Amino acid sequence: MTSVALVTCNMAASLDEDMPLLVEAFESLGVRVATPAWDDPAVDWSAFDAALLRSTWDYMDRLEAFMAWIDACAARTRLFNPPALVRRNLDKHYLQGLEAAGVPIVPTHFAEPGDDPMGCLGPFIDRLEGVEFVVKPAIGAGSRDAARFHVEDRAAALAHLAGLLQAGRSALLQPYLTRVDVAGETAMVHIDGVFSHAIRKGPLLTRGGAGVAGLFAPETISVREPAADELALAGAACRHLAALEPLYLRVDLIRGDDGSPVVLELEMTEPSLFFPYGPGSAARLASALLRRIGA
Ligand SMILES: Nc1ncnc2c1ncn2[C@@H]1O[C@H](COP(=O)(O)OP(=O)(O)O)[C@@H](O)[C@H]1O
Ligand SMILES: [Mg+2]
Repeated sequence: MTSVALVTCNMAASLDEDMPLLVEAFESLGVRVATPAWDDPAVDWSAFDAALLRSTWDYMDRLEAFMAWIDACAARTRLFNPPALVRRNLDKHYLQGLEAAGVPIVPTHFAEPGDDPMGCLGPFIDRLEGVEFVVKPAIGAGSRDAARFHVEDRAAALAHLAGLLQAGRSALLQPYLTRVDVAGETAMVHIDGVFSHAIRKGPLLTRGGAGVAGLFAPETISVREPAADELALAGAACRHLAALEPLYLRVDLIRGDDGSPVVLELEMTEPSLFFPYGPGSAARLASALLRRIGA
């Protein structure tokens, strides 16, 4: 009997809304599933035909241990997505590769550890067209340490940026794209390179950014029928990665000030896949994984 590990973490097990549907989908295909935590030392990963990263959401504070586990797990079973994709997705510098390939992204300026914070922030604000901007870490998830500032709050933004850089973290400076306040963000889930379903996510950053206490900021989700220009952009982002064959890929888009969509981020490590909003989507992922491992 084929067996698959749907990998989670202790803190997330009950928060993962995709998990029940995915368990059901695999079981109805005759697969035995387990839902181990990635950092459980008792787990024998070689006992599984495949491991699927699902809700390993506590790794941000233990990144080295997580990446070591990724390699160790991939050496013992088929891991999805594979380590090369996970490594590439970790750091939002990958946005530079998308942009270089002609895929529109949120206009982004990168600040690096060692850079003078004011030397980065000053010219960025001088060039800014709107009155609000975002400072967020290059390695981060769940909106943690992402903050929204008004140009009048230069001192607070500077403190936030300096804190990130001093901690050895690269940071992104972006205009706050205000259309997200009304239209929200569109997350487009792709399975084996094919668009599956999309959701609308409400805006997450409050003005003056209080920061996120838990694993991720609370999110307002609803079903969304993507527009033609969103499908086209997500398709372009997928083609950019096609050679690496992601089993699952979520493309998150928001609309820029001129109304056209731009890529906010790509998720191919442990994204919420919003199965409850995409009828049949959990079954599509389960079948795609089984095809990959020839089961
Ligand atoms: N430039 C931006 N303009 C508007 N909203 C933004 C911008 N950058 C981030 N956000 C908001 O912050 C959230 C988290 O940022 P994101 O880039 O998705 O990082 P992550 O999800 O990895 O923490 C987004 O879902 C969005 O609501
Ligand atoms: Mg996000």
